[in-house]
Amino acid sequence: MPPLAAPFPAARFRRARKSPAIRALMQENEVSVSDLIWPVFLTEGEGVEEPVSSMPGVLRYSVDRVVEAAREAADLGIPAICLFPYTPMEKRTSDCAEAWNPENLTNRAIRAIKAARPDLAVMTDVALDPYNVDGHDGFVVDGVILNDETVEALVKQTLSQAESGADIIGPSDMMDGRIGAMRNALESGGHKDVLILSYAAKYASAFYGPFRDAVGATGALKGDKKTYQMNPGNSDEALRLVTRDIQEGADWVMVKPGLPYLDICTRAKRELAVPTYAYQVSGEYAMIKAAAQNGWIDGERAMAESLLCFKRAGCDGILTYFAPEMARALGN
Ligand code: PBG
Repeated sequence: MPPLAAPFPAARFRRARKSPAIRALMQENEVSVSDLIWPVFLTEGEGVEEPVSSMPGVLRYSVDRVVEAAREAADLGIPAICLFPYTPMEKRTSDCAEAWNPENLTNRAIRAIKAARPDLAVMTDVALDPYNVDGHDGFVVDGVILNDETVEALVKQTLSQAESGADIIGPSDMMDGRIGAMRNALESGGHKDVLILSYAAKYASAFYGPFRDAVGATGALKGDKKTYQMNPGNSDEALRLVTRDIQEGADWVMVKPGLPYLDICTRAKRELAVPTYAYQVSGEYAMIKAAAQNGWIDGERAMAESLLCFKRAGCDGILTYFAPEMARALGN
């Protein structure tokens, strides 16, 4: 390769930064509203919009209200919304049967949103934690998270969401073999065009704290999730998981959390050339919001910069609680 720059002063990099017009021409990456997936929290009731205290600006919506929120998102040009339920405590059991109840919060919300705005893609979460007394993503017996029994339950959950009209299924559970089982069930159940966006490289992270408050799992969780979620020290393992999930029938893959794991996004995209999404998780959102509320950073600039960095790293899209705020900023 020839040298990439002439010696000074023939090369002056500041020439290309001298004005907004020149900088705009020089910019390699950009965030667009079509890159954004908006995660929202659901709660029972009617007319409810309840703030999540550890996530300033984020609300839990009752089904009627999430329809309004979805309309606004669609009007802003956001292509997809992703649903997470705050299941009432009395519906959390050790058999997690609420997870595949056609009348559960998520399934009712999917139907209501698709009826109001069929153009907005609806993504769901597949995992047992919102329905589990133990707060784990899988069945727990004697402190052990069961893999194969959990996969059977996840398949039932997947089918109930597909039957309700979900466009994109998002398995966040990290059990082995779930993508293949879900894909088979979707094919034989007549849901050939339902996408799977696999949480392929999901790490056992401290950055999920505010989310667990939002879905009411904080008190419930016994122990940690390290026997199924990845070790933050690993990178090659992530590529093997991404490859495995794609081979089992995932359409797209996700890396989670986002900013601390941009190297994983870049490796997945550049080395495997797969559609790669990142989840800017609750703790990342909360850090930016908290610092901004204290006047320590400019929140809007930090939001825009953090989302741009996902694009630079190679991501095709980003799940972010900032989606509506970013969409409005892009519109101005
Ligand atoms: C659980 C799930 C989690 C998130 C999405 N799905 C938390 C966890 O694994 O404990 C985290 C999202 C966030 O922090 O924003 N299946």
